[in-house]
Formats: sequence, C-alpha cells, structure tokens
Amino acid sequence: MINKMTRELLKDELDFAYERIFESLDEFEVLVPSAVSTDYHYAAVENRDWTDGFWTGMLHLANEYRNSAKIQMVISKQLTVFQKRLDHEIVLNHHDLGFLYSPSAVAEYRTNFDQDAKQMAIQAAEVLMRRYQPQAKIIQAWGELSDPDQQGRMIIDCNMNLPLLFFSSQVTGNLAYYQAAKNHLKRAQKFLVRHDGSTYHTFYMDTKTGAPRFGRTAQGYSDESCWARGQSWAIYGFALGYRYLKDASLLETAKVVADYFISKCPADFVCYWDLSFGTDSSEERDTSAAAVAASGLLELAQQLPVTDPKKSQYENFALEIIRSLAQNYTTRGIAGSNGILTQGVYSKPENNGVDECTTWGDYFYFEALLRSYQSWLSYW
Ligand code: GLY
Repeated sequence: MINKMTRELLKDELDFAYERIFESLDEFEVLVPSAVSTDYHYAAVENRDWTDGFWTGMLHLANEYRNSAKIQMVISKQLTVFQKRLDHEIVLNHHDLGFLYSPSAVAEYRTNFDQDAKQMAIQAAEVLMRRYQPQAKIIQAWGELSDPDQQGRMIIDCNMNLPLLFFSSQVTGNLAYYQAAKNHLKRAQKFLVRHDGSTYHTFYMDTKTGAPRFGRTAQGYSDESCWARGQSWAIYGFALGYRYLKDASLLETAKVVADYFISKCPADFVCYWDLSFGTDSSEERDTSAAAVAASGLLELAQQLPVTDPKKSQYENFALEIIRSLAQNYTTRGIAGSNGILTQGVYSKPENNGVDECTTWGDYFYFEALLRSYQSWLSYW
C-alpha cells in the first residue's frame, strides 16, 4: 500500500523525468541519446546501438504519464528509423532485438494498436530467431554463429529479449517463437542460475551435442562472481517468463534470484556493480542495476498471489530502491545534464561508462516510477 508521502515522491520524480525528456525532444527527434553519458551528458547519435529502444520507451512512458502531441510526433519519427534499421539490418547481428523492439514497436502496438508497429515487432522476432541453436536450445548472444569464441554462448540479459518472441507468438499464432523462447528460458534457469541463487553473466553450451560447457563473465568482476545488472535482468526476466508461460518453477527461480540480490544490497538499497563486493565496499554503485531490479521486483510482486508474504516484501524493497535513487542519485542540480540517474556503470572491466547516466538505467527508473504510481500496460 503506497502512502501519501510516497505518492508525492513518485509524482515529483515523474515530473522531473518528464521534464528531462521533454527538454530533449528536439535533440533526439531522429537521433537518439548515446548508450551512456559523458560527464552526465548524452550525445545525439544514430540509431545503431542495443540501447536505442530505451529512448522510445521513455517517450511512451512519458506519453502515458502526460499525453502530448509533440511526444507522439517524435515517437512516430523514431519508429520510422527503427523500421529502416530493421529493413537494412543495421547492427542487428546480436540478440538484443527485444531490448530494441519491445519498448519501441511493441509499446506502440500495445498503446495505440498500430498495425505497422505490430508487423515491425514480428519482423524483429524473425531476425532474433536466426540466432536460435536447436541442439543447444538457446539463442546465441553475440557474434557470428560460426565464431568459436561466441558459439553457443547464452547470457542472462537475454531473458529480457524473450518477451518479443512470446509477443510475436501470441499475435501470429506461430508456436516456433514460443518454443524457442521457452527452451532458452529453461536452459537459462538450469545453467545460468547457480545453486546459491546468484547468476553467471554468460554460459557456453555445445551447439552440436547440447551439453553444458562453462560459465564466463563479460561485464562482472570475475567468472564466479555475480554481476549486479545480470542479477537484475534475471529477476525481471524470470518473472516475465512466468507471466507468459505460467510455469511455477520460473516464479520460484525469480524469487530465489531476487532474494540473493536483496541479501547483497548495502544499507541504502543501491547495489555495487558486482554483488560479490558485499554490502560495504568502496567500489562504484550501479544505479542502473538498482533501477532494473526495482521494476523487476514490482513485476515479480505482481505475479505473486496476495497470500504470499514475499509479495509485499518485494514491493517494499522496490520502493526503498526508488526512494534512495530519488534522494541521492539523480542529476537534479547538475548543470548541463540531460540524463536522470547518476552513478550507473556500463562495464567496469573495460572502464566504459563508469559513474555515468545510462539510457537503460533512466528508462527502468522511469518505468518503476510509473508502474508504482498508476496502472501501466507493460511493453515487455
Ligand atoms: N545488456 C547489456 C548490459 O546490460 O550492459
């Protein structure tokens, strides 16, 4: 139950995020914000990265919060660019079709019943399906399918790409999308989630025999550590998997990974960039992982029956994350910033985007705020 004080905080934050987005409409009408900021300022770049759906996602959220003809006009222009990107397959040789086309095309279809947007989402699902490995029963994350360094590699982030396949299956009746997403999710549940509820960032499967090989990190501290954002993708992705498949074991897995995440958060609820640092470290936080976890915990709580005591525990933890981000981690007062959350981390091992605004952190923060404040039709 959200009290009056929390509602006021949510409204203040929604207003702040809305203003930030509104101020950027001219700059990001056809171009998009860079994946991460430099000194808390996003550059305007062409739509080529895995992160570019978060801008249209924020436009959709903003429009749901406060309808605006100008925002809808920018969404339409952005969707034209998304269609071109798909038609010309511009930097789509990876699995992030869901991150790109759920908060753009699916969002447009779900909010406006736009039939062209529906077709775009299905076209994107077709491109994603090319990465499905039938023996290993997984979608390969990165690289050419023949590349020995990437062959058979699945990553926990992919849980968020699967809703595009479930959506496409629902609207076309094509069960191949559904089966591929289901198989991948079950493999992720079995091999990416460790016995203690932590997760590997990535895991290799043998594409000829389907046998499991080994776990390896890409953005985490070490192969056996637990990359914080990966854990957040796990919470959200398994909860979404349950929403589509109604397989009770997925709900259990979402709870197990959520409990692990919660147990590793410091006193102010905003995790360090790797959960192996424990609760008291001088390492950087990753506000983007915290924002993804907040919305993921809200999704998980939504799937749980009222009789489950964890339902309110997850809701309350999500609200504590939001409160902490609002109080200590926004760009309010930072001159020249066009981002929303400070102290995100893209990839610490590569020293890329450390202590910056991130487009996905801003998006999931806004999403968590909106779904706590009013009813929201998910884009996932
Ligand atoms: N999906 C890539 C990342 O979370 O950085």
